[in-house]
Amino acid sequence: MSSHDTQHAGADGNGVAIRHADPQPASPRSEADRVKIFDTTLRDGEQSPGISLNKQEKLEIAHQLARLGVDVIEAGFPITSPGDFESVQAIAREVEGPVICGLARTSKQDVEAAWQAVKDAERPRIHTFIATSDIHIERKLQTTREDVKGQVHAAVAQAREYCEDVEFSPEDGSRSDVAYMAEVIQIALDEGASTINVPDTVGYTMPGEYRAMFEELYRLVPDLRAATVSVHCHNDLGLAVANSLAGLEAGCRQVECAINGIGERAGNASLEEVVMLVHTREPSLRLWTGIDTTEIARTSRLVSRLTGYQVQPNKAIVGRNAFAHEAGIHQDGVLKERTTYEIMDATTVGLSSNAIVLGKHSGRHALSKALQDMGFELDGAALNTAFKRFKEIADRKKQVTAMDLEALVTDELREEIAGYALEWFEVEDHSQRSPHAKVSVSLPDGGSGVGSFTGDGPIDAVFQAINVATGQSPTLSEFTIGAVTEGQDALGEVSVVVELGGFTGAGQGVSTDIIDAAARAYVRALSVADARAHADDALGLPEAAPAKGAR
Ligand code: KIV
Ligand code: ZN
Repeated sequence: MSSHDTQHAGADGNGVAIRHADPQPASPRSEADRVKIFDTTLRDGEQSPGISLNKQEKLEIAHQLARLGVDVIEAGFPITSPGDFESVQAIAREVEGPVICGLARTSKQDVEAAWQAVKDAERPRIHTFIATSDIHIERKLQTTREDVKGQVHAAVAQAREYCEDVEFSPEDGSRSDVAYMAEVIQIALDEGASTINVPDTVGYTMPGEYRAMFEELYRLVPDLRAATVSVHCHNDLGLAVANSLAGLEAGCRQVECAINGIGERAGNASLEEVVMLVHTREPSLRLWTGIDTTEIARTSRLVSRLTGYQVQPNKAIVGRNAFAHEAGIHQDGVLKERTTYEIMDATTVGLSSNAIVLGKHSGRHALSKALQDMGFELDGAALNTAFKRFKEIADRKKQVTAMDLEALVTDELREEIAGYALEWFEVEDHSQRSPHAKVSVSLPDGGSGVGSFTGDGPIDAVFQAINVATGQSPTLSEFTIGAVTEGQDALGEVSVVVELGGFTGAGQGVSTDIIDAAARAYVRALSVADARAHADDALGLPEAAPAKGAR
């Protein structure tokens, strides 16, 4: 997208200039001003508590990121688990367009695993990192500055033997001694790294400070001018996007970010905010990205559904209310002239029409065509399952919209989770008696478990009956109900997070029946938490490898 949504400068009745928007850029775009978008949703984003995406889900997100036009997909941290390795490998083999990157610490096995996972990509990248702050070197790594330098030499040299495209990050860069970090960066450059990423790992820095740090690094390491310099900001103080912008102002030209801002603790800089900031303020910033902004809303919905992380209603760009006007005075203004209260057009981020696509008489061919138009390539068994779910929904709902289909197909991807699956349920509810539920759940060993329970409410009764059927007793930590579209016959969408023996699992369910959606979501969350607990037992990682969620 290259068009601008904003307005023209003008004058009020008294001849006073009113600045509605930035003037248009005088000169054409140059490659030097192009900001590369490095998406880390599948690596740093996936480190958020409770998120555990399977290979199929990661592939689906990676394909959507390619449609969005990101420059680099950091697909995972291959050494951490066989599942992560296989997902990165599958993305490298299947997803065309972006550079596919795998993360590695500086150890030989890490770099080797990252290479084995990404080597089949059209354009592979190895991203290696080690901490350079004294607190990390002394307390976490329990080593010395000199040893860290040696590790950087070895890791970047090893990575360069395999791959032309190598990125190096001095972890906790924003809290490192700049002069020392500059020496480490020089080593990485001398060994052939072409991208240097300086993270604000703990979300501590402030825009002025971060900018000054990059200016100092450019002064101390003139060779940085020939490399791509990158920012990677965490949001602990709510400054991740502001700090990323400060880095761009200092000359950096790659931003590491995640869809919906997910990531460790308070998350990473949100991709959609960074992109729309650069897009909306291009005339001032004179920077641009290669992102197709009209794919933003859809990518956000996909990531939210598959991770179970709901987007807060007032979240910039992708929140439900980001383009809603409540105050009468605002509504009035927008009706007269949209730009009185809107600095962006909702259609620019893909919040456009939700045209009705199908009805209950539509056949398999029509469904397949509609899905194809929406970018979903489904055939064989997957199309059959989607068609069966579509028919069930079309029987209950007069009109099946694009948003419904999107929710339904995304929901189907969840079926891939190995573990428990809901077979059937029945609920008796009455205003004078406590509700009673009976459920049947298929178990990981291939058998079925049946459970019943009388609960406080119908959903409580179903959840407790599932506990009886599975023999598990997780704690319910989050439960949210939403609607996919507007209207009384809208599909219900439920999101659940449970905790089981110290492991969290998130799940979502979509159905015209809210109890069905809740039961599906609960069983999925339980399966994820259970799988995480077992994966942790079975990982058998090398001694120094971080446990998932502890990196
Ligand atoms: O936050 C961080 O420092 C990281 C590095 C691995 C780049 O995620
Ligand atoms: Zn990070």
